[in-house]
Order: sequence, then structure tokens, then C-alpha cells
Amino acid sequence: MNIYIAKNSGFCFGVKRALKKTLEAVKQEENKIFTFGPLIHNTQVINRLNSLGVKSTDKIEDAEDSTLIIRSHGIPLKIYDEAEEKNVEIIDLTCPFVRRVQEIAKEYYNKEYKIVIIGNPKHPEVIGINGWCNNSAYIIEEIDEVEKLPFIPKMCVVAQTTITFEKWNTIIKELDKKADEVREFNTICLATKERQEASAEIAKKVDAMIVIGGYHSSNTQKLFKVSKSYCDNSIHIETADELPLEIFEGCKNVGITAGASTPDWIINEVVKKIENEGGD
Ligand code: F3S
Repeated sequence: MNIYIAKNSGFCFGVKRALKKTLEAVKQEENKIFTFGPLIHNTQVINRLNSLGVKSTDKIEDAEDSTLIIRSHGIPLKIYDEAEEKNVEIIDLTCPFVRRVQEIAKEYYNKEYKIVIIGNPKHPEVIGINGWCNNSAYIIEEIDEVEKLPFIPKMCVVAQTTITFEKWNTIIKELDKKADEVREFNTICLATKERQEASAEIAKKVDAMIVIGGYHSSNTQKLFKVSKSYCDNSIHIETADELPLEIFEGCKNVGITAGASTPDWIINEVVKKIENEGGD
């Protein structure tokens, strides 16, 4: 059996940076360290951080007089003020690509454009971006939501960094009909685009496709969707233990891809398990 690993699998730049700086902070800081929400969408990494004393919270009060790490998804603007009031030391690890989206939302909100975010309204990155335009954005996740929007004279559209290009292209076409003036900022992260393209390439040529990543990880869910559209025999797992060996029956070629918050050691464990127990 041949195993193909998609290029750009695993940690993206923003997640790598967040984990590295958090581990540095564990060594250097004397304060207690909290993260504002789980640092990354990966249970195994979170368990490791917990064992090092790094706790996750969504309440600023918990981090009073302590250090609070802002994860790559970013936070609403007002949380920075609340943190200052509570004497919370901030280590801001908002991914620079997410920061760009936040800045666009702020700039165009101040120029009196209505902000539209294409993304999942419950995702922390989207909640954060909305918090840079006074929580005034329309958030569109599916194309049929566009028709419910009122007519908007000046519209500024941004994307959650992990949505698919397909979603952006179809929704933006409909949004164009809803405004006199539309400023479009396709803020999908390049790492996301490359990962999706590489996964599609591999999924096209294999008999089974394994997508590794947290079940709550938005970009892993998207990778699964992309993989499944090219290879029906695709599965999403978090760890090697969950690998159903029966899917390899009769397989000649197996593909592997992994979300942006999946560490290399988990990918390696999956590869080893397929090599040792996946058949010929
Ligand atoms: Fe940043 Fe892109 Fe990763 S926005 S956190 S590098 S997926």
C-alpha cells in the first residue's frame, strides 16, 4: 500500500507561533498563565498544556493579576480594555492574518460601511472580528441567508480565514446584488488555501483518505469536506487510536491530510499505524 501525505499538512504558521510562544511563556513567566479559550482546537495539545499549568478561561476575572494569552483566533477589541482594568498582562498571539481582517473591519466600520463577514457566527475568530466593528456585522454562513439581508448602500465584505474558496465565490456573487458599492476583501488565509488544494490533489488519486484533526477544528472539518468530495472513502479522526483498519481493505493508495492545529507527532502515529497494521 502506498501512503501519500498532503503537502502543508498540520500546524500552520499562526498555530505554530502560538504554541511556541506559549511554551516560552510557561518557562519565563512567574504569573499564573491562562489562555482565552483553548489555545488550539486539539484535545491532545490542550491536555499537555494543562499538565504544564496553563488553564483555559473565557472570563477575564479569572485572569486578574495573571497572564492571559490571546490565541491565534483573536478577540473582540473591548476585551483588551477589560483586561487592562483587571491588571491582566496580555500576551497577544492573534495570527497576523486574522489581525488584518480585524483591522479591515475596524477601518471600514469607521468609514461607515456595513461589514459583512462570510463565516460561522459561532466561531471565536468571527466573534472576534465582529468585536472590531462594534458587533454590527452581518454574518453569513450559507448562501440562502443573503436574500434575508436588507439593501446596503456601502458594504465591506471579509472572510473568516478558514472558509473554502468555493463558499467565498458563491456568496460574494449574491452579495454584489445587495449593495450599491461593495468592497471585497478575500481574507482566506493562504495556508488554508494551500492545505485545501493539496488535500484535493491527493484525494483525487487515492482509495481512502484520512483527515486528522480536532473535531471542533473548523479548518479540519473543511478539509474533510474537500476530501470527501473527491474520495468517498474519507474519514475524519483525531488520533491514531480511532483509525478504523477495515477501510484499508482492498486499498492500494491511501492519502493523509491534517488540519492546521494537528501536531506532527499525531500525524506520525497515524502513518506508523497504517504501515504496521493497515495490511500490505
Ligand atoms: Fe493564521 Fe492562517 Fe493559521 S490565519 S492561524 S496561519 S490558518
